[in-house]
Amino acid sequence: MPTRIAVLASGSGSNLQALLGAADLGGEIVLVASDRHDAGALERAAAAGVETALVAFGDYRDRAAWDAALRERVAAARPDLVVLAGFMRILSADWPRAWPMLNTHPSLLPAFPGARAVEASLAHGVKVTGATVHFVVEEVDAGPIVAQEAVTVRPDDDAATLHERIKAVEHRLLPEAVRLFCAGRLELEGRHVRVRGAAPSHGARH
Ligand code: GAR
Repeated sequence: MPTRIAVLASGSGSNLQALLGAADLGGEIVLVASDRHDAGALERAAAAGVETALVAFGDYRDRAAWDAALRERVAAARPDLVVLAGFMRILSADWPRAWPMLNTHPSLLPAFPGARAVEASLAHGVKVTGATVHFVVEEVDAGPIVAQEAVTVRPDDDAATLHERIKAVEHRLLPEAVRLFCAGRLELEGRHVRVRGAAPSHGARH
């Protein structure tokens, strides 16, 4: 049985698109849910024939009611994995208790967690940033890291140009992390994520 995957996205959905287009993902995207009616991700999902759900933040009396409604909608899809692909609202601790969750983030965590990580990285003047895919835990952007890759900041970068290059990396790292999860190859040992059956890296040999 393929792994049932629910994807949550607030934005344009380019990371969702990378998942939809990934060969041999080993899983099926059974639901794409968003908090925003204007999320490009919803259009991309519909175009791919994937079920969509809009659970708009403003339609609920408070955060708890919205969170519970979204959780109920996702639970109805019976996912084995929930992927946050540019989901811009903080979810309650109930989420990572209910499902294994992966998130992609546009910085080298633990540097620059939270929203507007690309802007914060540029404002700080870093020369290198990157992308991180990690398991979701209760604390925001603090979970065990599955994959990371660096992106060099160019002197003429603005947030848009830098974010585009980071996204190009995310479009590789996120599908690969999901593929490894679906293949049952991600093993958690405390904060450490081991990839079962991975060839030893050069670093490990020397
Ligand atoms: C991605 O860069 C993702 O890492 C980021 O939003 C972007 C979504 O792009 N997520 C966060 O900043 C979460 N804190 P997309 O809509 O084109 O996939």
